[in-house]
Amino acid sequence: MTASIRHYLQFSDLGAEEYAWLFKRAALIKKKFKAYEKYHPLADRTLAMIFEKASTRTRVSFEAGMYQMGGSVVHLTTGDSQLGRAEPIEDSARVISRMVDLVMIRTFGQDKIEKFAAHSRVPVINGLTNEFHPCQILADIFTFLEHRGLDAAGNPDPAFLRGKVVAWVGDGNNMANTWLQAAELLGFTVHLSTPSGYEVDQAVAGIRSSDSYKVFKDPMDACRGADLVTTDVWTSMGYEAENEARKKAFADWCVDTEMMKVARADALFMHCLPAHRGEEVEAEVIDGPQSVVWDEAENRMHVQKALMEYLLLGRVD
Ligand code: CP
Ligand code: NVA
Repeated sequence: MTASIRHYLQFSDLGAEEYAWLFKRAALIKKKFKAYEKYHPLADRTLAMIFEKASTRTRVSFEAGMYQMGGSVVHLTTGDSQLGRAEPIEDSARVISRMVDLVMIRTFGQDKIEKFAAHSRVPVINGLTNEFHPCQILADIFTFLEHRGLDAAGNPDPAFLRGKVVAWVGDGNNMANTWLQAAELLGFTVHLSTPSGYEVDQAVAGIRSSDSYKVFKDPMDACRGADLVTTDVWTSMGYEAENEARKKAFADWCVDTEMMKVARADALFMHCLPAHRGEEVEAEVIDGPQSVVWDEAENRMHVQKALMEYLLLGRVD
């Protein structure tokens, strides 16, 4: 029964050709949404959303998206379910996946979501772990294509990504790891600049080689010539005890107008949000003309609708 289930636990769980499909579907699904066109391919389907960490965008985008596609959702948190009272994750997976069609999980270690998926009868989607945030990078790349990489017919064209440079300024965290997986799969390069002690670990990032990224000590050098500059909070969820040490270590890793000036003139700025103006990004940058963070946030919903449709129904027309 579980042999044909496709999970989305990390970016590399899908192939380049599947991403091309998803970007195309997301564009179509977004168009329908903007035109108030009813589209209910997931009627009578239920999504369980399990949150062991806080969320605004992930919850709203999955919940609104599922309802818009005719389905419904069940929202669980550690505090209001048996998950917080040490019920084995395998048992939770067996039970929850008998009652719903799809599960989205936001949790701590990637091992937890993998264990859940191994005992689930239905597809499991990673809504953020300590190691990865694949739905966010799916939205980020879709947003990049929407703004800069449409083909002559106005469709997102992943071929545009080949040879492009994405500058990552900040923590070697779940977002950075996922960017690296995307670069390896879709043919662009990541310029990484992280403070000492907060580097990306290639083994944790789960990439095969170092061909798709370059490391820079100085964030200015990472941004030079970049097509896209992106960053994230200095302290991710689950690492709050390190907050003070991180504030000191990351002081020079604030994306400012000087960094944006050395990037390409048409470079975009992205941030998965929530953002801390004056820490990882200057207000002038995130609220400036090169920033596409609001489109980026909205696109979470459109790409995830395409993803849920794909995992449940395959390639539909
Ligand atoms: N970017 C993102 O995942 O936001 P939330 O933490 O609000 O879900
Ligand atoms: N790296 C951040 C992303 C939040 C959406 C975190 O894990 O907290």
